[in-house]
Amino acid sequence: PADVVPQAPEDPLFGLMRAYKADQSKDKIDLGIGAYRDNNAKPWVLPVVRKADDIIHNDPNLDHEYLPIAGLASFTSKAREIFLGAASPALKDERVTSVQTISGTGAVHLGALFLAKFYKGNRTIYFSNPTWANHKQIFDNVALPTATYPYFDKKTKGLDFEGMKKALQDAPERSIILLHACAHNPTGVDPTEAQWREIASIMRQKSHFPFFDSAYQGFASGDLERDAGAVRHFVEQGFELLVAQSFAKNFGLYGERAGCLHFVTAPGPSAKEDTARIASQLAILQRSEISNPPIYGARIVSTVLNDDKLFAEWRDNLREMSGRIKDMRQALRSKLEALGTPGTWNHITDQIGMFSFTGLSEQQVLKLRDEFHVYMTKNGRISMAGLNTSNVDYFAKAVDKVVRE
Ligand code: LMR
Repeated sequence: PADVVPQAPEDPLFGLMRAYKADQSKDKIDLGIGAYRDNNAKPWVLPVVRKADDIIHNDPNLDHEYLPIAGLASFTSKAREIFLGAASPALKDERVTSVQTISGTGAVHLGALFLAKFYKGNRTIYFSNPTWANHKQIFDNVALPTATYPYFDKKTKGLDFEGMKKALQDAPERSIILLHACAHNPTGVDPTEAQWREIASIMRQKSHFPFFDSAYQGFASGDLERDAGAVRHFVEQGFELLVAQSFAKNFGLYGERAGCLHFVTAPGPSAKEDTARIASQLAILQRSEISNPPIYGARIVSTVLNDDKLFAEWRDNLREMSGRIKDMRQALRSKLEALGTPGTWNHITDQIGMFSFTGLSEQQVLKLRDEFHVYMTKNGRISMAGLNTSNVDYFAKAVDKVVRE
């Protein structure tokens, strides 16, 4: 069949990473992929992860056997606790089932596959416009139709809340709505608490099904609980929902592929039995897709989450990452303002999480790449963690030049 397979384009984000690596300039800056870098532009192995590594390697009982199909229970049970809160009624009622996945992407995929097989409402999944570049193709792969709801207001560089609400209202009842739990990718714009409550109330009226993608817990506010606030509110409101959870960013475990998919069943007399049936089907899907998940990343996260001291240290590590990113937002904004760069730059500090949606045009982005060796996605997104005290000045000056041209 080889001659009928057409050439596909290279993945834009990984293509960008390749181009950056090949660039020989000493000035080059990588603001592409959403991966944390320290102030020396280097990947950061979290100190708490190094400790967990040592504990695991010194364990004389360590082996490399298969995990159960649903993954490492000591990992998935703590993973959902940090998300839902240990006191969550959903956990108390045993109406949450969790499966360890190939990080967030695998979780979104498994959730999509599950919905494709079992969802009986309006089988269209709605994404924010814009959303993470991978969302659409994951749902395309399981043949679920996709649509978008407005999200980003180009004028304010904030949330188009009216547009979003109207689209949720206009969508057919029982549509599937994909929501970013916090630190929206690519815009860095999240609804406020009050706005989340309104979103939940519209979704309740319309019986929509929420599918939360949570890749950045701890990166939005620096506080795990606050960053899970939206999902917790939906759970309190009695929704049945899915959560895809990634530990790539908040543990710096990008290549280990540690994640979970959680299904929360709505409260009710049959909730526990319903949840058990859902778990049984997820197990069949998982077995046919990957058989059972990889063990190492889950071991690290489990080691940390199950030890009070390490857990506290993880929170400190997280605050260090989110704090450095905030400092860079401040630095970039003040440098652009000091240069008098045309336009307003308050959105750089208003936006949160790993990314800023700068508002730079594709043409400006390409100029930054060609003339200044600055690598960012064509939609004007920058990964804030790529900036540091040594390069933020150079970047601000480069932006200033391309904006004035
Ligand atoms: C990103 O958007 O940069 C990250 O989520 C990495 C990825 O896999 O796309």
